[in-house]
Amino acid sequence: MERLYQNISKRKSTRKFNMDSLDPSSMERVEQALQDIPQLFENLTVSFILVRDGEHFMEKGTSILGAYTKVKSPHYLVVACKEASGFRQAAGYSMAHVLLKLNDLGIATCVTYPGVDLMTIQQFAPLEEEEVPILFIAFGNPEDPLSLYPKPDYYKRRSYKDILLQGPVKRKYKFILEAARLAPSSFNTQPWRFAVDGHKIHLLRVKLGFIKSKLFSSLNKIDMGLALGFMVIALKSKEMKFRLVKDPVAYEGMEYMITIEMKE
Ligand SMILES: Cc1cc2nc3c(=O)[nH]c(=O)nc-3n(C[C@H](O)[C@H](O)[C@H](O)COP(=O)(O)O)c2cc1C
Repeated sequence: MERLYQNISKRKSTRKFNMDSLDPSSMERVEQALQDIPQLFENLTVSFILVRDGEHFMEKGTSILGAYTKVKSPHYLVVACKEASGFRQAAGYSMAHVLLKLNDLGIATCVTYPGVDLMTIQQFAPLEEEEVPILFIAFGNPEDPLSLYPKPDYYKRRSYKDILLQGPVKRKYKFILEAARLAPSSFNTQPWRFAVDGHKIHLLRVKLGFIKSKLFSSLNKIDMGLALGFMVIALKSKEMKFRLVKDPVAYEGMEYMITIEMKE
C-alpha cells in the first residue's frame, strides 16, 4: 500500500495519448495489476474488463456530453458491476486502486464516460451476466512522456475550509483528508465533505439541486468511492487500525455515506 499511497500525489488525468499499443510486457503488467483488486463489499465484485483495441472501440462512442467525455486512448478498461445497493461507491473504491496501480507502472490514465452502447461494449469486452458498464478508464502511454506526473501546484482542489463541515482534525489524521482531497472526481466537482469528531471521520456527499441531472449524482457517488479508496490506501500505508462503520450524521444538503472509525 505504501507505493499506492505515494502515487496519490503523483497521479493526474492524461487526455492526450500516444495511440501506439503498449508493449506486450507493459500490457502483461497491467493484467497482473488487475488481479485481486480490493473490493468495498465482499459480495459485490467490480470488474475491470480490458479493451485492447481502444481506437475502434472509441469510434463507436456517441458522447452526450461532448468532447470532454471522449478521451482517445489505445486501450480502455470497462468498469462493470451488478446494480446492487452502493454499486457506484464500490466501483469508485476499486477504481482508486486501479488508477494508482497503473500510475505506479508509469501508465497514464483518464476516467471517461464515452457513451458507447451496450452492444458495442459486449463485442469488445464481454460482461458477466447482470453486470452493467459503469465507466471507462482510458490508458496507455501519454503523448508527452513528461505529462505523466503533475507539476507542482497542478492540483486544483477545494480548501479544507470548503470541505470540512466539522473539526478540529487531529494532526495525526490530516494525511487521511489530504489523500481524499487529491482524489479525482467527475468534472473535478469534489463532492466530498467531512465531519470529524475525535477519532471518527464521517464522509458525506453534497446533494445536487433539482436542476442537476441524475447522471451527475451518479457520477458523484463514484467520486465518493474514489475518495474513500484514497483514504483507505493512506491509512493502510501507515498501518493504522480502523473500521468502516455506519454511524450516520445529519447535515443540511448532504447525504451521509460512511464513517471511518480509527482505533486509537
Ligand atoms: C467519475 C469520473 C468521471 C470522469 N469523466 C471524465 C471524462 O469523461 N472526461 C475527462 O476528460 N475526464 C474525466 N474525468 C477526470 C476528471 O475530470 C479529473 O479527475 C478531474 O478534473 C481532476 O483532475 P486530475 O484527475 O488530473 O487530478 C472523470 C473523473 C471521474 C472520477
